Amino acid sequence: MKRPLLIAPSILSADFTRLEEAVALVERAGADLIHVDVMDGHFVPNLTIGPPVVKALKRVANVPLDVHLMIDNADETVQWYLDAGADIVVVHVEACNHLHRVMQTIHKAGAQAGVSLNPGTPVSAIEGIIGEVDYVLVMSVNPGFGGQAFIPGSVAKIEEIARLAAERGVSPRIAVDGGIDVVTAPLVTAAGADMLIAGSAVFCAEDPTAAIAAIRSAAVTRLV
Ligand code: DX5
Ligand code: ZN
Repeated sequence: MKRPLLIAPSILSADFTRLEEAVALVERAGADLIHVDVMDGHFVPNLTIGPPVVKALKRVANVPLDVHLMIDNADETVQWYLDAGADIVVVHVEACNHLHRVMQTIHKAGAQAGVSLNPGTPVSAIEGIIGEVDYVLVMSVNPGFGGQAFIPGSVAKIEEIARLAAERGVSPRIAVDGGIDVVTAPLVTAAGADMLIAGSAVFCAEDPTAAIAAIRSAAVTRLV
């Protein structure tokens, strides 16, 4: 069963001095969620924002915050992001020692839980957890930076995750993050993705509203 497509602009590509305006802009443009990239300078070679900024975003956002933790110690710190107001928390399978416990912690806080895989991580890494998650986030670039080229092998990976979910009788959303634009959106949605995260394609566009609409219509044509 196909669910409505969700589009989550990533504020990583927004002007960090004007985040409130960036949130308002993409909300007016029809964003379903705001994607917030948390990087620690260890798990990924970049350092971005932490709980205080998530908390500030929560005060100004009218749509849910989708918080993507690209950090090494999510086992110890996931609660900080839940307390800051994250509605969805996504952690990396490569970075958690106790993934099942982290999912329980997120659910206990009333938030939705996701697990993400790096491009080099096989789908088998999430076989044990797929029944416990609301989202599987496929990284279609190596995490750390916006504006990178989409890795084509991500399409087959999405198909494999969709097959695994069907075999298990579960239906997490499949989200894709990295290099999503009007060209890649149809490919990944045809493969089974039903949530698209887009940073530079939205915030570096001359008209972010038109960019979101274009991604949505490019994707929807393949979903029906
Ligand atoms: C990358 C981040 C992404 C990033 C995507 O590590 O997780 O969310 O903002 O940016 P684009 O859409 O420019 O590839
Ligand atoms: Zn992200």
